[in-house]
Amino acid sequence: MNNFTYHAPTDVVFGRGVEEKTGEMAVKYGARKVLIVYGGGSVVRSGLLGRVEESLKKAGVSYVEFGGAKPNPTLAHAEEGVKLAVAENCNMMIAVGGGSSIDTAKAIAHGTANSDHSLWDIWSKKIPLEKSLPIGAVLTIPAAGSEMSDSAVLTNEELGKKGGINTEFNRCRFAIMNPELCYTLPKYQLAAGITDIMMHTMERYFIPGIKCDMTDEIAEGLLRTVIKNARIVMEDQENYDAMAEIMWANSLSHNNLTECGRGKDFSVHKFGHALSAKYDATHGASLSAVWGSWANYLYMNALDRFSQYARKVWGVTETDDKLASEEGIRLTVQFFKSIGMPTSLSELGVNPTDEEIHELALNATQNDNLKLSRIIPLTSKEAAEIYTNAR
Ligand code: NZQ
Ligand code: ZN
Repeated sequence: MNNFTYHAPTDVVFGRGVEEKTGEMAVKYGARKVLIVYGGGSVVRSGLLGRVEESLKKAGVSYVEFGGAKPNPTLAHAEEGVKLAVAENCNMMIAVGGGSSIDTAKAIAHGTANSDHSLWDIWSKKIPLEKSLPIGAVLTIPAAGSEMSDSAVLTNEELGKKGGINTEFNRCRFAIMNPELCYTLPKYQLAAGITDIMMHTMERYFIPGIKCDMTDEIAEGLLRTVIKNARIVMEDQENYDAMAEIMWANSLSHNNLTECGRGKDFSVHKFGHALSAKYDATHGASLSAVWGSWANYLYMNALDRFSQYARKVWGVTETDDKLASEEGIRLTVQFFKSIGMPTSLSELGVNPTDEEIHELALNATQNDNLKLSRIIPLTSKEAAEIYTNAR
């Protein structure tokens, strides 16, 4: 087990009706005036935004709304939010929605606290981020794990790049999670979210050569819980207990708990972000579309991890490590298909030419400045092979 620091400072307020506590939590963390960040309008239609505003009013906190965060949220939109937050003198950002709204709120918090710098200077690490404003989240989709993560991801449309920053300033002070809020999710988004939760866990699992029994047990239990309950909610979306399991697993998958002692890889995410930047693909779908190809390319170099995964997560009884690994990969891909996720680029609806694959591979490896994967280092050449095999 490698050395690590585990820090998960977010207050989690979980269960039925908890959105009524938004005001109380905002006061706890010093809110005077809140910028409420939301997406394309699902929270307006469901009445959730109204309930959150009511709770803020009751707690004596004023607010201003900022809607319009789209899936794969953009830098330009976050910059608009910064202008509004500065003009309105907001001192807290509360996202009501999913990862796109939360990441936009995080970016706005950083931009507002450093309004003498451009947001892109912060994102591209030209200036060190030394201060920000408090952020809270009322979560409506179990997916990105942003409500407890130290990460935020934006797309710079001008440069055609999607990328994130990791900093402790990205930690939400509080996360309000009511599983009932997920009942209105489109099935595709629910399935994409389930995929993302599994990926956040697997991106920390498939790293060979480090013994971490406790962390493995947490990750394997998390994956089994998600797979079991995914099958239930895909059939019966209003099954509270199953949705609650998935929502809680979502937060634990990405708050660094499943990386203690081993760290993380996130190479599949790099493949996915390049696809989302070019084709605006839904995040979870961009991952399932390449995962099988990624796994098949690498598993022979990490048979210990892939065979343990097959046995502990999927109950594979095969004693030969190679055959067990192959069965685990097959069952995973079959599971993604069963919940309606694409398992190839063509199923994702994209058919890149060889030249476009080369471009995607360069984007994923940051022009070969970054070697992907902690199994074996992948340059753009190998990345292009993985994309090609995913066609
Ligand atoms: O925009 P609205 O109208 O709210 O609709 C959203 C959106 O269309 C809809 N939705 C969400 N909750 C709903 C609902 N519709 C009905 N009822 C509800 N309860 O679902 C769609 C997707 O929402 P989005 O916020 O984009 O989902 P998600 O949470 O998957 O976030 C994706 C973004 O997070 C990033 C992704 O790259 C992507 O940009 N990630 C952020 C991470 C982080 N900050 O730690 C880590 C992840 O790996 C990921 O990269
Ligand atoms: Zn993700």
